[in-house]
Amino acid sequence: MTNNEAPTAATQGDTKADGTFRVQGISKSFLLKDSKTGEPVKRQVLKEITFDIPRDKFVVLFGPNASGKTTLLKIIAGLEAPDSGIIEKPRPDMRIDLIFQNYRDSLFPWKDVLQNIAFPLELSGVSKKERNDAARSLLAEIGSDVLSENDYKKYPYELSGGQQQLIAFSRALIVRPDLLLLDESFAALDHDTRYLMQDVLIKAWEELKFRVLFISHSVWEAVYMADVVVLLSKRPANVLDVVEVPLERPRKREVEYSKDFFELRSEILRVFESELYGRGPIIS
Ligand SMILES: Nc1ncnc2c1ncn2[C@@H]1O[C@H](COP(=O)(O)OP(=O)(O)OP(=O)(O)O)[C@@H](O)[C@H]1O
Ligand SMILES: [Mg+2]
Repeated sequence: MTNNEAPTAATQGDTKADGTFRVQGISKSFLLKDSKTGEPVKRQVLKEITFDIPRDKFVVLFGPNASGKTTLLKIIAGLEAPDSGIIEKPRPDMRIDLIFQNYRDSLFPWKDVLQNIAFPLELSGVSKKERNDAARSLLAEIGSDVLSENDYKKYPYELSGGQQQLIAFSRALIVRPDLLLLDESFAALDHDTRYLMQDVLIKAWEELKFRVLFISHSVWEAVYMADVVVLLSKRPANVLDVVEVPLERPRKREVEYSKDFFELRSEILRVFESELYGRGPIIS
């Protein structure tokens, strides 16, 4: 599907009651200073981006470096205005949360695990006991593989990358967002922690039932996580393709060695590499 066509039924998994969350024709340019003349020049980053984020599909956004992925997340979160296009929401008051690429910088070094997670509730005036209970029960629900009760009083510097990532997730989830946007959340993690955190996120998504848009730089990660991979072109980014991943859930790690997995990964690589280099993958 290209950006100019209406989203297909496959990308519209919402029931009527859930409504459609649609990124519709989003374009964005920035004014930059020309390095030689100093004159302002317009650089288009996003060009008429259209796709849906259905409630029951895990949507992964995959695109080249500096193609405008973070800019698009900011626009969806309402932190940046598009030049044209709209973000069509099922409810105007729906809660959207964004976990930034540099999530570690967002943790407060002087707050322990529970205090960090409960911070949004502290801001809305929830009592200490109530917010601590909420943080504990959320961790018990989604994070027991990563953080144990013994860790709850620890500070971020005492924790591993995966544990810090879990705090960032939990802090976003404690307010029960309708849509969670994640910007390359696992890029800095080592291989086994990345595996672990992918499964923690999928479990949280399955249990708490929020919509999700997850940016990934890894084709392997995109296929493992996604029901739908939205492929972006080079800058100015538009939607090159929307690839469905019909692998059964719950997924087991072994799926990565299956023929279906390999074929999906190849399909995405073929489109992506042809966009970047004008050819498909080199297979000798
Ligand atoms: N506020 C801004 N002003 C000017 N240019 C900007 C601004 N924000 C982003 N850009 C430019 O827009 C382009 C896309 O940036 P963006 O961070 O959205 O890309 P990205 O796909 O997330 O990159 P990465 O793969 O490195 O995470 C870049 O060239 C960037 O320099
Ligand atoms: Mg980015």
